[in-house]
Amino acid sequence: MTTPHNITTVSIIGAGQMGGGIAQVAAVAGFATTVYDAFPGAIEKCKALHDKLLARAVEKGKMTQADADATKGRLTYSESLHALKGSDIIIEAVVEDTAVKKELFAKAAPLLAKGGILASNTSSISITDLGTAVGDMADRFIGMHFFNPVPVMKLVEVIKGLSTSEETTARTIALAEAMGKVPVPANDRPGFVSNRVLMPLINEAFYAWMEGVAEPAHIDEIMKLGCAHPMGPLRLADFIGLDTCVHIMDVLADGLNNDRYRACPLLKQLVVAGRLGDKSGRGVFDYSKK
Ligand SMILES: NC(=O)c1ccc[n+]([C@@H]2O[C@H](COP(=O)([O-])OP(=O)(O)OC[C@H]3O[C@@H](n4cnc5c(N)ncnc54)[C@H](O)[C@@H]3O)[C@@H](O)[C@H]2O)c1
Repeated sequence: MTTPHNITTVSIIGAGQMGGGIAQVAAVAGFATTVYDAFPGAIEKCKALHDKLLARAVEKGKMTQADADATKGRLTYSESLHALKGSDIIIEAVVEDTAVKKELFAKAAPLLAKGGILASNTSSISITDLGTAVGDMADRFIGMHFFNPVPVMKLVEVIKGLSTSEETTARTIALAEAMGKVPVPANDRPGFVSNRVLMPLINEAFYAWMEGVAEPAHIDEIMKLGCAHPMGPLRLADFIGLDTCVHIMDVLADGLNNDRYRACPLLKQLVVAGRLGDKSGRGVFDYSKK
């Protein structure tokens, strides 16, 4: 059977929050899926989470036991990069670090099946820059920006680098659709569309708090009830991670060469204090008692 994406095997590098979610969605959609992670324990944690989420889907009647078993049968977990050999697409979801990602792509590129695609789930790093790690395969290099939590969020921002071919873009869009997502294309500019628009909004909410315009809970309430945001900007910042927010503001300020994108001093101060949001138990709000 030929499909517009011409992909049957999907591999994921990085078994964390995003990589685990992407693998789950790919396997549910019927793709033979391999997850690779280099860090001890990451693979076990990812597999245990998949087992738990699939069992829960069966319990809730969202999936039959047979489908859950078939999904598990399509998932392979490995601590060896070599397990990715023969993949039609490799989607990378490791730490947001250009050097780490480039090194992995250089090693993974020769493992692709003929005509295979390399994709990064980066939230902010230039796709054109990452693509330079794979030399003359840069036309098959693209951004596939999934959102958190992956099984729930519909959007995939598809980022075309300067060298990405039309064919690669079309196949990636078709793949995202086959994974049950809604792909929307964007060009390779700092923050793409989602973070270019979202992060300054979040940053402004920190300025409003710092300047005493309103208390954090009131800022969030006003944005939820008055602007129909499902989550207030400060709550969302905690969910994303305040360190990540600072990192993305730095990418915008440096990449767009404009100081109006600099992170708010209060946001940076919370990060210095170790208040990173949900992941550290406290950010703008306190989650330690939950
Ligand atoms: N968390 C979000 O809301 C979100 C949303 C969209 C995109 N992203 C992007 O997705 C990527 C991953 O984010 P995450 O939140 O899943 O991070 P995470 O920390 O949960 O997972 C990263 C995983 O990569 C593994 N890893 C790190 N270095 C590696 C290496 N050299 N080789 C193999 N595995 C390695 C780690 O062991 C870890 O399991 C980042 O680029 C991030 O910017 C995150």
